[in-house]
Amino acid sequence: MAGEKAVEFVKDGMVIGLGSGSTVYWFLKKLGGLVEQGLNIKGIPSSIQTENWARQFGIPLTNFSEVQRLDLAVDGADEIDPDFNLIKGGGGALLREKVVNAHSERLIIIADESKRVKQLGEFPLPVEVVPFGWELTANKIGSLGVVPVLRKENGEVFVTNNGNYILDCKFTSIPNPQELHHELKMMLGVVETGLFIGMTDAVIVGHSDSASVIE
Ligand code: A5P
Repeated sequence: MAGEKAVEFVKDGMVIGLGSGSTVYWFLKKLGGLVEQGLNIKGIPSSIQTENWARQFGIPLTNFSEVQRLDLAVDGADEIDPDFNLIKGGGGALLREKVVNAHSERLIIIADESKRVKQLGEFPLPVEVVPFGWELTANKIGSLGVVPVLRKENGEVFVTNNGNYILDCKFTSIPNPQELHHELKMMLGVVETGLFIGMTDAVIVGHSDSASVIE
């Protein structure tokens, strides 16, 4: 519902940041249908998975060597706090998502009600790190009182689209997301965190048969 509602914010001629995740899939599907009917837009995908879906749905793609600014980005989230700060990266696409979202005029997050929380931190915070010496980076992050867990998939170390690893960090709560983000970013070996602070303009919350826009 949220994914389909998001197409109402798309206008002819826009360059659109295409987020990642299962909710975004429904946005892409609906958007592809409108393109087929004549809507003229271009998208920049934030993951290889999204790129594949966009191609499957016939959405024309572009890249940052052709355009430097996006009109709109639509993306999912793992947690959303009342100030619209987010935890993202459950699917491992946080770095490209942040690059895409940070260069968009407007960011709309699509999610179901379960993603809305009073305070961030219940969902383990994904932190993208350089593979070389990841153990040292994990120890350093551990000094913040958390036990970073190296993400694995089917028994193998999960490797991001950028060739990096993900450390999932379960803080019991994150009272100051901005401070934690900066603290982590200053650590050698950390590439990016899944904290998206002050970037979101609106949230579309999906319900069983409708979706509501919160701005
Ligand atoms: C991808 O790495 C994530 O940031 C997703 O945007 C997030 O996990 C939301 O995904 P779902 O829509 O599948 O819950």
